Amino acid sequence: MDRTRTKDYNLGYMEAQIQPKVIINRREIEIAVQRLAALINKDYHDKKPVLVAVLKGAFIFLADLVRHIDLKLEVEFVCLSSYGQGRESTEEVKLVQGLCSDIRDRDVIIIEDIIDTGITTNFLLDYLNQQEPSSIKICALISKPSRRKVTIDINYLGFEIANRFLVGYGLDWAENFRHLPELCSIEDD
Ligand code: IMP
Ligand code: MG
Repeated sequence: MDRTRTKDYNLGYMEAQIQPKVIINRREIEIAVQRLAALINKDYHDKKPVLVAVLKGAFIFLADLVRHIDLKLEVEFVCLSSYGQGRESTEEVKLVQGLCSDIRDRDVIIIEDIIDTGITTNFLLDYLNQQEPSSIKICALISKPSRRKVTIDINYLGFEIANRFLVGYGLDWAENFRHLPELCSIEDD
């Protein structure tokens, strides 16, 4: 299989002919994921971190990332929702599903798909800190710094992008397009 292939998709979604356009291709994603995993391997070589992935958007990123991590680790999920059906955050974050395990005194790494305003991540930090882990770091595939409303210190970052709505590789628009293997834009340039 050609892993470097890039393509635009014509899926004819809904009434509009939405044509996702590849912004970050498979090879670029793979290189970034390997780079982040190498940093985590180095920083946590004597530890057993708990990776807390944020559903739904981080599911593909997490799955790829953990397969490049050479450590003992545990995986947990939280499900947060903030966007509803649109492209703008409602700024009201809901904890749809919390942790299943105790993270007290554990080294936690948050695995996020994309940090936009920062409001979701800030909410998650509050929720996790209440459970008194010994440390929390943040690993995000994408950041949109120009959109930030809350300062977030991202320890491991894949890509910084301009203010642009992306889909694919786990990211959705109204629950569509999560399955696309590349990061795509659905906006007209
Ligand atoms: P924030 O609270 O504004 O930082 O938004 C965080 C959440 O909004 C992410 O975890 C995503 O689920 C969603 N989100 C933000 N930007 C995008 C985007 O460009 N595409 C898809 N989802 C996004
Ligand atoms: Mg989303």
